[in-house]
Amino acid sequence: MREFYVYNSGGVEETSFLAQKLASLLRGGEILFFKGPIGAGKTVMVKAIARHFGFKKEPASASFSLMKRYKNKYVTLYHADLFRLESGEMYNLGFEEMLEDEDGILLIEWPAAAEGFFSKDRLETEVVLKSGNDREIKFRACGKRSGALLDDLCKLIEKEKK
Ligand SMILES: Nc1ncnc2c1ncn2[C@@H]1O[C@H](COP(=O)(O)OP(=O)(O)OP(=O)(O)O)[C@@H](O)[C@H]1O
Ligand SMILES: [Mg+2]
Repeated sequence: MREFYVYNSGGVEETSFLAQKLASLLRGGEILFFKGPIGAGKTVMVKAIARHFGFKKEPASASFSLMKRYKNKYVTLYHADLFRLESGEMYNLGFEEMLEDEDGILLIEWPAAAEGFFSKDRLETEVVLKSGNDREIKFRACGKRSGALLDDLCKLIEKEKK
């Protein structure tokens, strides 16, 4: 089972490609963290995942609403951006639904203030800014389920390269 994987992206298309491959492996109930500085490409990844599931009206930055829900007959996505969250605020902001929905897919930008509220099994993605449009996208699987997911993602990406 894989714990780490690094993908080098040279532009938005490559980052979106990666995120859509990841989306194609999601079955419901996964927790994905997105870390990295402002403007790195976290929301670019979230948008690509949402597009994969057929959400045409793409998630904008969730910063001002903290959490947005996208639901269709296949899936419920929760997109949260906790950049402005004070620690301990989680339960005053209507996050119960997101935390209790075992079949929902949670996409969390800036998770630091609330890491303890989420199940420990999660896939962490850190987008590292390089020069220009280059990004280093570093995955870390915390837990068995995320490890299996990361395994499958690697296989899928390596297959595409051939
Ligand atoms: N390789 C790349 N991958 C992703 N985005 C890229 C890449 N190269 C350039 N960009 C640009 O970087 C920006 C990333 O913006 P995005 O909103 O996804 O950042 P973010 O990490 O969500 O920031 P914030 O912390 O403010 O939410 C976009 O303008 C995008 O066009
Ligand atoms: Mg963002």
